[in-house]
Amino acid sequence: KHILLLGAPGAGKGTQSKRLADEFDLEHVTTGDALRANKGMDISHLDFEYDTPREYMDAGELVPDDVVNEIVKTALQEADGYVLDGYPRNLDQAEYLTEITDLDAVVYLDVSEEELVDRLTGRRVCPDCGANYHVEFAPPEEKGVCDECGSPLVQREDDTEETVRERLSVYHENTEPVVDHYRDEGVLAEVNGEQTPDEVFEDVTAAVEDA
Ligand code: AP5
Ligand code: ZN
Repeated sequence: KHILLLGAPGAGKGTQSKRLADEFDLEHVTTGDALRANKGMDISHLDFEYDTPREYMDAGELVPDDVVNEIVKTALQEADGYVLDGYPRNLDQAEYLTEITDLDAVVYLDVSEEELVDRLTGRRVCPDCGANYHVEFAPPEEKGVCDECGSPLVQREDDTEETVRERLSVYHENTEPVVDHYRDEGVLAEVNGEQTPDEVFEDVTAAVEDA
């Protein structure tokens, strides 16, 4: 299966993608994680505004398409089935995606702006195994410690209130048109993302099976 999961920053794409990948035995392809793993990559030869992905990410801006497209192309070529999360984020990326693959299901997680800010500023992540928590909505058993591997949890550098606001504004301007594009094509399954993670997962699974 080829599944695309769309949604604003904090909508729960990462949370649901991991579960989908387990459930359907798919590769979880996420540009956010891929870029975080390559934050220091030297892209100065490409003549963009900044020399590394880190500078874009910490500002809440999009990393240039050429860099991201290449990452996605390679990852999708290596994957049999996949859940794609964090891409496409603008119409040019959506067009590129159409050129390199086909999609079986496109699912959009709908969450209100206020809830997104709460989720992102309260998120904590494990730097070692990638597990995701929330100080209020999904706390670990022991405060500040990963349930899976015992490592101390950290806040993502772009989860400060100021950067969150910038990410949301970039989302409205660049990524909402992508959601509209798939909706206009009649392929978008819309799920209420403001339910418990289990309920959201149930709806997402149903949408994928119906597609
Ligand atoms: P990326 O890592 O993709 O971040 P994002 O899209 O902003 O999404 P998030 O990871 O913040 O949120 P999520 O939807 O995965 O939510 P999560 O499940 O964690 O991108 C980061 C940066 O990389 C970008 O700003 C950009 O610079 C760059 N980048 C990435 N892709 C790019 C591209 N294609 N082009 C250019 N640049 C790119 O959940 C959030 C929190 O809520 C967690 O704490 C979780 O525990 C909690 N939560 C989840 N579900 C629920 C629920 N149902 N109820 C209550 N709480 C919940
Ligand atoms: Zn961990």
